[in-house]
Amino acid sequence: ATNRTFTMIKPDAVQNGHIGNILAMITNAGFKIVSLKLTQLTIADAQAFYAVHAARPFYGELVEFMSRGPIVAAILEKDNAVEDFRTLIGATNPAEAAEGTIRKAYATSIGENAVHGSDSDENAAIEGAFHFAGREQF
Ligand code: CMP
Repeated sequence: ATNRTFTMIKPDAVQNGHIGNILAMITNAGFKIVSLKLTQLTIADAQAFYAVHAARPFYGELVEFMSRGPIVAAILEKDNAVEDFRTLIGATNPAEAAEGTIRKAYATSIGENAVHGSDSDENAAIEGAFHFAGREQF
């Protein structure tokens, strides 16, 4: 079925000038952009967005990284969006990411891994609503 996922181009990839190339990989893979913006998370925003990871040893580092510079937030639509987008971005650790994936091309480490992709339809809706008002979702 046609459904939606949520992504962020993370501060490392924005800083390194990869916004255009990553958006091209996303649209070339058949995803339609239904929401899009350049924004920056506050520390409190990043803590809330990643609250599910609050007990992890890398949480502080993750929050610091995700709030250190601008990100691109987007909602994407496609048949089988959540699963197909996770395939397109590749493994969390770029050393394990397949050829042709966004993380293989642009991630630098397991923490600074260029892009986020929602892990379920439910989280896609929650994460999309975190960043975009209803009138910003086309
Ligand atoms: P993502 O899967 O988008 O969301 C959780 C993030 O936590 C993940 O991307 C990485 O950026 C980060 N992360 C996961 N594992 C580690 C780790 N071992 N060390 C540092 N950051 C991590």
